[in-house]
Amino acid sequence: MKVNYDYSLLPHNTFGMDVRAACFIEYDSETELRHLLLSEKCLPGKWLHIGRGSNLLFTKNYEGTVLHSGIKGYDLLSDGDDSVEIRVGAGEKWDDFVRYAVANEWYGAENLSLIPGEVGASAVQNIGAYGVEVKDLIVAVEAMDVTNGELRRFTNEKCRYAYRDSIFKNELKGQYIVTHVTYRLSKVPVYHLDYGNIRAELEREACALTLENIRRVIVRIRKEKLPDPKEKGNAGSFFMNPYLYKEQFKHLQNMCPDIPYYPVDDNKVKVPAAWLIERCGWKGRSVGHVSVCDKQALIIVNEGNATGDEVVRLADAIIASVHETFGITLVPEVNYI
Ligand code: EPU
Repeated sequence: MKVNYDYSLLPHNTFGMDVRAACFIEYDSETELRHLLLSEKCLPGKWLHIGRGSNLLFTKNYEGTVLHSGIKGYDLLSDGDDSVEIRVGAGEKWDDFVRYAVANEWYGAENLSLIPGEVGASAVQNIGAYGVEVKDLIVAVEAMDVTNGELRRFTNEKCRYAYRDSIFKNELKGQYIVTHVTYRLSKVPVYHLDYGNIRAELEREACALTLENIRRVIVRIRKEKLPDPKEKGNAGSFFMNPYLYKEQFKHLQNMCPDIPYYPVDDNKVKVPAAWLIERCGWKGRSVGHVSVCDKQALIIVNEGNATGDEVVRLADAIIASVHETFGITLVPEVNYI
């Protein structure tokens, strides 16, 4: 276990906010985590558990203890004819897991290549990209009850997954810390190529349909569209794509016949927040040290030395403007701390 005092959180938030934590602890096992949670001495005052900080916005120094998982390891639980089940430590980097799956020719995770963050957060946030959500791969999530240190296993169904949502963000918010996630991957080829330009890109390159090639194409598309947090601080999509009831959507479509949309179920339609933001004229605009990405309007960028408050002010202005124009209230995907 590593304990640090007055610790810079700069390497732990992709927005690049230069804030400090009064204390930062990285634990390496469930036993250490239990000890931390149950001993008053170890965690005096408030605490916060973070992953890689790719979905967080710190608006000031954190006066309590920041916890981070160092629980590592891949454990092959079953290896059948058609699929494998792998139990992964919450502190493993998500994209290392995708690379490992692709190298083993296991199908399912490749569309989620290069998403920043760690395995534990993948299961809380239900990360998604290019037509795949991690819930499609999750068999079970093991998590520790913060009040008594007991471990509980949540089956996929118990996690109540929805778009960028799970029970760990709602009913059980703050009550459990994820320690391991078990994923099922297919040994039989299953591809998801119909989102955006993936199929077209593969055809353009005239390359064989392999996991390696899909991963390479997705990594390239992401690098072209999304700013690298190492160069310009950002947290990926700042807002969630709104779900609209069909009547509300019809009204919007009458107003803007060219609006893209994705049917969700019989009653609801998802519309791209990036499109709404771009229509309101925000794409590429800068306000002080922050800007709206000129390649993807859903991303707010730290142009250098921005404060969390500046980001919040820009986000609030975008929310107000989209609401005024379209009557839709955007909800941040990023958590403000
Ligand atoms: N669009 C615009 N303007 C823009 C960008 C996009 O009008 O500046 C429109 C286009 O019509 C485009 C549509 O929005 O077809 C969707 O854009 P894109 O495919 O880039 O995806 P997104 O809905 O903006 C979501 C995820 C991303 C994920 C991509 C690709 C959310 C909140 N975001 O973005 O996830 O990488 O799909 O699958 O669902 C993240 O969560 O941090 C993230 C990066």
